[in-house]
This record gives sequence, structure tokens and C-alpha cells, in this order.
Amino acid sequence: MSIKHILWHPDPHLKKTCATIEMVDNSIRKLADDMLETMYDAPGVGLAAPQVGQIKRLFVMDCSAKEDEDQPMVLINPAIVWSSEEESTYNEGCLSLPEMFEDVTRPAEVVVQYLDKSGAEQEKHFKELWATCAQHEIDHLDGILFIDHISKLKRSMITKKMIKAKKERDQDG
Ligand code: NI
Repeated sequence: MSIKHILWHPDPHLKKTCATIEMVDNSIRKLADDMLETMYDAPGVGLAAPQVGQIKRLFVMDCSAKEDEDQPMVLINPAIVWSSEEESTYNEGCLSLPEMFEDVTRPAEVVVQYLDKSGAEQEKHFKELWATCAQHEIDHLDGILFIDHISKLKRSMITKKMIKAKKERDQDG
């Protein structure tokens, strides 16, 4: 396994609609394992393929509490097939926007259909942080960031800060 470079906003890869994965093969499983390692290393609770420059419909997440055992999940070609009427608000962040946090309101619960690492069809009902994270990550596969859910003014302020942070990151190598 290897740790991947995480792209920071603004980056054209983060604005793309990702392609459906036609076959779950060893290269996809390797990508998923690398993404999990990258996510745990960061650390974060979710990471989508475009964040590591892969324009594919795949994300990984683990929203288990720190004191619990790890619950790594790989979701391939995920689709939300049901959302609750009830909403919840979380102060969201993103590994592509380090140190930026804003409240985002989304459905509190969702049911997601996806393929697992073996290529088998799965369906899972997510609640609480898991539901928020799944929606945030699926947004990434359609080129949508959490800052696309907040005001234009806040979004442009965050983007300005990120352009500055990216310059500093490039200088540091
Ligand atoms: Ni994100």
C-alpha cells in the first residue's frame, strides 16, 4: 500500500463528474487500499477517488469512533436510493480543504446502493456522521465540494485562503 498525494481545492480534478467503474479488478482494489491508508494517515473519515486524481466513482470512509475498532468501508459506483425527510447539520471539513469547516445541512439518513471490493452489490442504511460523510463523498464524485452548499461569499473567502495555502504547500515541496 502507498500513501497518495491529496489534491487541494481549487483543482480541476475536483470539479469533474467521475466515470462509472466497469469492472472491480485488482487495480481498483489496490486504489481502494491506498485510499484507505491515505485517509487514515491524514487523518480523515472519508476520501473520494478524485481527491487523489482518479476520476472514478469510488470512495472510502470510516466514521467509527476513535475508541472503537476500525470499520473501513469501500463504496464503488455508489447511488443514494432513499433519503430521509429529516435533516441534520454537521460542521463539515474535507481533506481537500484542510482547516476549513462550515455547517452543512443534509438529509439525516440515506440508503446507498454500491459495489463492495469483491464487486458484489450491497445496500446499506447510514445514519448520523456516516450518512453525512456518505453524501459528502458522493458529492465529490459529481464534482461538488461541501463549500458548494454554503453562501457564495463564504465560498469565495475559503477559496482565497486555499489558493494562499496551496502556494505555501508548493513552496514547501
Ligand atoms: Ni471531502
